[in-house]
Amino acid sequence: MTTFRERLRALPVLPDGLPGWEVDDLANLPATPHELFESWFDETVAAGATGPHAMTLSTSDGRGEVRARTVILKDLTAGGWWFAGHSTSPKGRDLTADPRAALTFLWRETGRQVRVIGTATSHPDAGGADFRARPDASRAAGLVDHQSEVLDDLAQHRAAWADALDTVRADPELVAPAWTAWRLAPREVEFWQSGTGTGQTRVRYRTDAPAGATGAPGTTDTPWTKELLWP
Ligand SMILES: Cc1cc2nc3c(=O)[nH]c(=O)nc-3n(C[C@H](O)[C@H](O)[C@H](O)COP(=O)(O)O)c2cc1C
Repeated sequence: MTTFRERLRALPVLPDGLPGWEVDDLANLPATPHELFESWFDETVAAGATGPHAMTLSTSDGRGEVRARTVILKDLTAGGWWFAGHSTSPKGRDLTADPRAALTFLWRETGRQVRVIGTATSHPDAGGADFRARPDASRAAGLVDHQSEVLDDLAQHRAAWADALDTVRADPELVAPAWTAWRLAPREVEFWQSGTGTGQTRVRYRTDAPAGATGAPGTTDTPWTKELLWP
């Protein structure tokens, strides 16, 4: 009988045979983290990843209490990384109290991790477009509010969800009032690659560009500094 600790130790973390990432000259990397993110993402999809657009969103409530949860990446634009949810949820309240946040992607199939650190802004109009594009079941789930509140029993939720499903089916334009989209404008994007037999490689893109300098902070116009980090 093995202990839980032994069973943990016996597990592989990443697949064998990862090619690694030899960066001879940072100048040869894409000028923006946006471009590198997109090519790493496409390669990860091609490697057969499930849910590569699921990411960990970390927030703080402004008083030092930190929370993280999984959300889906909805878009990547020059202005940043997009996700959506209820403004009335704990994550929404956190982002109102302190818009600084981080996103973490773990892509096991390619042995990669990407961290995006920056400031989130809320975009309710984009949230409306996102909501209308969701399948009926997801629109119903979004319409049932009270996210993360204590639930007396599951039947209460199932009944609310069934009602919400009738409502959204009757009105394809209906948008849950609290549904919003956020855009995380990055200050820092870090790319981490594991290689079998070569060790890890880390590259960070960062910007100190203040608002009004060449390009908005964190966009593709921003002057980005690229640097290698000790793994
Ligand atoms: C794979 C996966 C994807 C999810 N995507 C979202 C999402 O896009 N938006 C969202 O609000 N919650 C999403 N959730 C649920 C959140 O992880 C979380 O439970 C919920 O948003 C409440 O978080 P909060 O209490 O910190 O606000 C997802 C969960 C999983 C496991």
